[in-house]
Amino acid sequence: MPDQHSIALGVLAAVAAGLWAWRRWHYRSFWLVLGYPITAVTVLATWRKVALGCGLTKKRQRFWFTTVPGLVASTGVVRVKRKWQRIAVDTKPWMWLPMPTRHGWRVTLHILEGQIPADYADAAERLAHSWGVHAVRVTSDKPGRVRLAATIRDPLVTVDELPPSTELLKVTVGRLETGRPWVVDFRTVPHWLNAGATQSGKSNLANALIVGLSPQPVALVGFDLKGGVEFTPYSPRLSALATSRAECGGLLDDLVALMTDRMGVCRMASARNIWQLPPGLRPVPVVVLVDELAELYLMADKSEKDEIARTSTALLRVAQLGRAFGIYLFCCGQRIGSDLGPGVTALRAQCSGRICHRVNDPETATMTLGDLDPAALDSARAIAAETPGVAIVAGQDGQWYRARSFYVSEAAAEYAARSYADRAPAWADVMAAQPQPDSQTA
Ligand SMILES: Nc1ncnc2c1ncn2[C@@H]1O[C@H](COP(=O)(O)OP(=O)(O)O)[C@@H](O)[C@H]1O
Ligand SMILES: [Mg+2]
Repeated sequence: MPDQHSIALGVLAAVAAGLWAWRRWHYRSFWLVLGYPITAVTVLATWRKVALGCGLTKKRQRFWFTTVPGLVASTGVVRVKRKWQRIAVDTKPWMWLPMPTRHGWRVTLHILEGQIPADYADAAERLAHSWGVHAVRVTSDKPGRVRLAATIRDPLVTVDELPPSTELLKVTVGRLETGRPWVVDFRTVPHWLNAGATQSGKSNLANALIVGLSPQPVALVGFDLKGGVEFTPYSPRLSALATSRAECGGLLDDLVALMTDRMGVCRMASARNIWQLPPGLRPVPVVVLVDELAELYLMADKSEKDEIARTSTALLRVAQLGRAFGIYLFCCGQRIGSDLGPGVTALRAQCSGRICHRVNDPETATMTLGDLDPAALDSARAIAAETPGVAIVAGQDGQWYRARSFYVSEAAAEYAARSYADRAPAWADVMAAQPQPDSQTA
């Protein structure tokens, strides 16, 4: 009957449109209610096939009872003569129930004898294609177990806005691939290296820090050897800015003197660091932003050699001792290679926070990310030019993540710098002799 058909078609179309709209407007509930259960059942049902295809199964001898030869799951051709026999079966790693995550799902596996988590990491790309997902990340938090985390679509294609920073020296600058916030927290990771080719999003990250730190009671200091073009617009909020080599030398000397001063204060108060000082005595933390680190080390001619050596030593001292005395470094650069001199290698060792944006040469990625998992390096090399701000980040927990910074325009950073200009402590005040504990008691 034609009218019944058209009613059925109409209902189908309405359901399809409803589902489409649901998925479009409230993806999270759609995913939890409909997408995830279907995915979980499919993943469990197809796991044997997928594991076999990705080479994650092992052969085991099993007694098998069958009357129908086709039921025996084996790669070899099995001729069933008896109903009860011992045959080689492909066993798959035991899979727990997949659990939904913000951007996909994760599942724990019991790995088979002789396997290591790296076998699963090697198969990650195969798994991602088998499941039709953007990526599969492999971690292992217990011997004998691996956890696979699948992200359905690249969550870093669009990222939201920079949220306000509420905690001292802590700025949420972007989002990790896992959906969690990407936090630059100078109190846990004091010094950072931020590498990347031009247009990869280095300055965007510095802008995010300016916006995040401007309202906070911290002194911001800039080193900008590209003639000051990057940081001069933010000078209202900067307590000091060095734009030439001579100024850099002077400012670094100041920082070293400041550190020595603070050391004295801490010693008098028997404090190990400025955070153990009573709040009244605690000096203001200083965040040092360096744009184009290589410029600090590049030599036009031999006459600059001594000056560069001095700069390099001072910067290294700041990195080595700054942490305890509230001086934090954030160094950006296109290349952070050892070809710039031994000073850079030593500085790199002091910077535990590593950020690697898109880079032109594999060496820079290796230099920046150091001896992290080779998969991190592959991931860094695969960052596309169309997604500036995407980076591989290694922080305090020894793990690495793919992340993307929130877009922060120069205008936004300039606006923040102007709005909070009154919170910038004058450099003279920062440098002024620190209050001594004994002079207060006397
Ligand atoms: N997280 C991001 N999201 C969107 N666009 C970004 C992001 N980071 C950077 N960009 C864009 O990429 C371009 C280059 O970024 P920039 O930070 O100036 O790179 P770099 O300092 O490494 O040369 C900028 O025009 C900026 O608009
Ligand atoms: Mg830049």
